[in-house]
Amino acid sequence: MKYFPAFLNLDSRRCLVIGGGEMALKKAHLLKSAGADLTIMAPDYEIDFVDALGLAADQVLKLSVDPDEAVSQGFVLVVSASGVAALDEAVAEAARRANIPVNVVDRTDLCTFIMPSIVDRGDVVIGISTSGASPVLARRIRAKIEAALPARLESLAAFTRSFRESVKAKLKWEQRRDFWERVIDGPIGQAVLNGNDAQAREDMLTAINQNAGMSGPRGRVSIVGTGPGDPDLLTLKALHVMQDADVILYDKLIGPKVLDYARRDAIRIFVGKSRACHFKTQDEINDLMISHAQAGRHVVRLKGGDPFIFGRGGEEVDILRRRHIDVAVVPGVTAASGCAASSEIPLTHRDHAKSVTFVTGHGRDGEPDLDWTALAAQEQTIVFYMGVSNAQTISRRLVEHGLSMSTPVAVVVNGTLDSQKTLTSTLANLPDDVAATEIDGPALMIVGDVVSARTASDLNIYPDSARRIA
Ligand SMILES: C[S@@+](CC[C@H](N)C(=O)[O-])C[C@H]1O[C@@H](n2cnc3c(N)ncnc32)[C@H](O)[C@@H]1O
Repeated sequence: MKYFPAFLNLDSRRCLVIGGGEMALKKAHLLKSAGADLTIMAPDYEIDFVDALGLAADQVLKLSVDPDEAVSQGFVLVVSASGVAALDEAVAEAARRANIPVNVVDRTDLCTFIMPSIVDRGDVVIGISTSGASPVLARRIRAKIEAALPARLESLAAFTRSFRESVKAKLKWEQRRDFWERVIDGPIGQAVLNGNDAQAREDMLTAINQNAGMSGPRGRVSIVGTGPGDPDLLTLKALHVMQDADVILYDKLIGPKVLDYARRDAIRIFVGKSRACHFKTQDEINDLMISHAQAGRHVVRLKGGDPFIFGRGGEEVDILRRRHIDVAVVPGVTAASGCAASSEIPLTHRDHAKSVTFVTGHGRDGEPDLDWTALAAQEQTIVFYMGVSNAQTISRRLVEHGLSMSTPVAVVVNGTLDSQKTLTSTLANLPDDVAATEIDGPALMIVGDVVSARTASDLNIYPDSARRIA
C-alpha cells in the first residue's frame, strides 16, 4: 500500500486552494462539501469564484505574496491546481517546509496526499485510489460501485445512526453486532431502502424492546422481474436483491446469463416447466416460498419480464400476504418492451398507432377469450403474449372483426437474447409462416402497422437472423 487511506474532518478547518480555473473550482467544491473554511488564491481568475462557490470576497484573494507566506496563514491543508508548473512546484515545496499536507493536481510526485475518486452517500463515503496510477480506472471502479449500491444507502446509514444509542442502552455489546447485521440485512433494512421509513421505525422499536437480536431472523420473499433475457436489462434493484438472496426460485423464462448475477452461495431451485425436467405446480412453488421464508430466509422468486404482466406475481403476493410473510415486488422490463426495442418496432409510432394493448394469446382452456371487436379497432398495436400456438385463431378472429388481411405482424422469438429471431408476416400469411418457422423459445406477436416502421435489421443492436416474409 503506497498511500494510507484516512478520512479527514475538515469541518470549519482552514483549507487553501491555489488556482483560478476549472480544476481549482472542482477541488474547491469538493473541500466545501466537506465543510472546509476555504481560501482561494490565484495570480489571475478565469472564473468568478465568489459567485460559483458562494464565498465572501475576502476568501478569494489575488496571489501576490510568495508561496511560503501564502501557505503559512494557519491552513491545515493545501491543494495546488494552478496548472502552472513553476507555481505548483513552489506551493508544494512551501507546504512541505511548513509540514502542511499538500495535493498538486496531476503531479503525484509533488503530493504528500492524493485525493481518491469518491462515492458520496451522506454518512457512507467510499474513497477509491489507484495510488495515482490511473484516475480514469479509479473513476470506472467508482461507477461500478455506485451501480452496486442501493440508492437509499444514505437513509440506511442515517437510520442506524439514529438508533445507535438506544441499541447500546438495551443490548450487551456481544449481542449488538449480530443485532445490527439482522437489522441491516433483514426486513427493517429493506424497508428503509424501499423508502418505508415509518414501518422500519416501528419494527425497529419492537426489535429493540423485544431484544430481537436474540430471536431468529424473519424471512421474506422478493418477487423480482428479470426482463426478457438479456442480463443487461436487469434493473439495479433486481441486481441488489439477487445479491442478497438466500434461496432463488427460477423458471425457464429466466435468461441463461441472468443467474450469473445472483448470489453465488444462494440455494437455487428450478421450478419452471420444461419437457426434460420435472416441473413444479404453482401450489408447490407457493409452498416452497412459504417454507423457506418461514425458516427465516430471504427467498427471491425470479420472473421473466415483469412479475405483474402475465407473470402471476399478483397471485403470489396475495398468497404470501395471507400467510403474513413480508413480500416486495421488483419490476422488470416486460417482453413487449424488450422485444420491441431489440427488433426496432416502435410500438406507438405516431404515424401508425395511438395505443398499444398487451393481451394474452392463450386462454384458460387454450383458445383466447378476447374482445376481438375492440382489438380490431384501427390505429392500435396489439402485443400477444403466449400467442404463437394460437396464431391461426388470432389471425382469423382479427380479420373476421375488421382488420385487413395485409395488416403486418412480427413474431419475435427469444427476444433480446443472442438467439433472437424476428419473423415479419401479415395476418393472411401468419399461420403458414409460423408453421414454417422453428420457434425454439418464448415468442411474442406484435400486430399492427407499426411493424412496417421496423428499421433495417442490420441496425439492430441484437444479432437477429430475421427471415422477412411480407
Ligand atoms: C407467462 S408470460 C410472462 C411474461 C412476463 N411476465 C413479461 O412481463 O414479459 C410468457 C410469455 O412472455 C413472452 N416472452 C417472455 N420472454 C420473451 C422473450 N425473451 N422473447 C419473446 N417473448 C417473450 C412470450 O409470449 C411468453 O410466452
